[in-house]
Amino acid sequence: MELDVLEKANSKEIKARLREKVLRLKKERNAYIVAHNYQNYEVQEVADILGDSLALSKAAIGLGHDVIVFCGVDFMAESAKILNPKATVVLPVREADCPMALMVTPERLKLKKAEYPDAAVVCYVNSSAAVKAESDIACTSANAIQVVKSLPQKQIIFVPDKNLGHYVQRFCPEKEIILWQGFCTTHIRVTAQDVLNMKAKYPNAAFIAHPECPPDVIDLADHVCSTSGFSTFISKSKADTFIIGTEVGMIYKLKKDHPERRFVMPTEQFVCQTMKMTTLGWVAHALETLEHQIEIPENIRSRAEITLRRMMAVTGEHPNSVIASY
Ligand code: 13P
Ligand code: SF4
Repeated sequence: MELDVLEKANSKEIKARLREKVLRLKKERNAYIVAHNYQNYEVQEVADILGDSLALSKAAIGLGHDVIVFCGVDFMAESAKILNPKATVVLPVREADCPMALMVTPERLKLKKAEYPDAAVVCYVNSSAAVKAESDIACTSANAIQVVKSLPQKQIIFVPDKNLGHYVQRFCPEKEIILWQGFCTTHIRVTAQDVLNMKAKYPNAAFIAHPECPPDVIDLADHVCSTSGFSTFISKSKADTFIIGTEVGMIYKLKKDHPERRFVMPTEQFVCQTMKMTTLGWVAHALETLEHQIEIPENIRSRAEITLRRMMAVTGEHPNSVIASY
């Protein structure tokens, strides 16, 4: 056998054994495996739920499992812990963070609030628990417009994603959105020229973009949505080819949901390195050792929970949500 064929066979066998181990440990630990749409394919395959940030925050409420293994990045696992303080929430790779979430700190946010005392603070869920604690309400890419429109304040400090904030401003002319200068280090890599090149190659293709893409890329989109919205749009569309304006991990689910359609990426650069850190081996390790557990000081967790539950109350996701006044 050729060496690469042997290597492939071995790696297939290793993956199959790891998969078996993960499924066995999941049962023993009474664990629930949550995975974001950008995760590696083999991780998506062992997950109990796959989804966008909004679906995963909802799924994390009142699960009744002893352990939640969060295959995604740190702010997502934090959200699960904020909403499930008694559960053991484990992030398989400690270094799996979101570079955009690191672009805002509670200290800098406090200074901005002092500058705009009448403004409400809306934080994208891609932010730390400490930033959520300093914010009035959270939002995801799926509900940001609805959340901003629900607020009585005219001025909105929107953190940390300037591109999502810019997108929201298009639909909320009645608001003054004060943009934070954060951005997604993955979605910023796609250019309008990349999309135009693909459109020239596939003239009948529809272009779907995540709102973290830059504004001139959004201008070219046939549809803009969260990662979960991609599949829904494709189901309704007549196009046979789709240019996918988000992280490459998305393609796996789209191919599964729509095997008869074609999916093309506008750039090979559409890879979120930290999302890809979680492998099947790390998931098995997390189930075995319960590393790395998410801990959040209670004074931060409880305030961040109010921020998340206000969002859920606005979008009607969780009927028992607390609506605190602000
Ligand atoms: P979604 O909420 O659309 O899944 O987005 C999360 C994210 O990190 C996109 O980069
Ligand atoms: Fe963060 Fe961008 Fe990666 Fe999403 S794709 S986790 S926003 S760096």
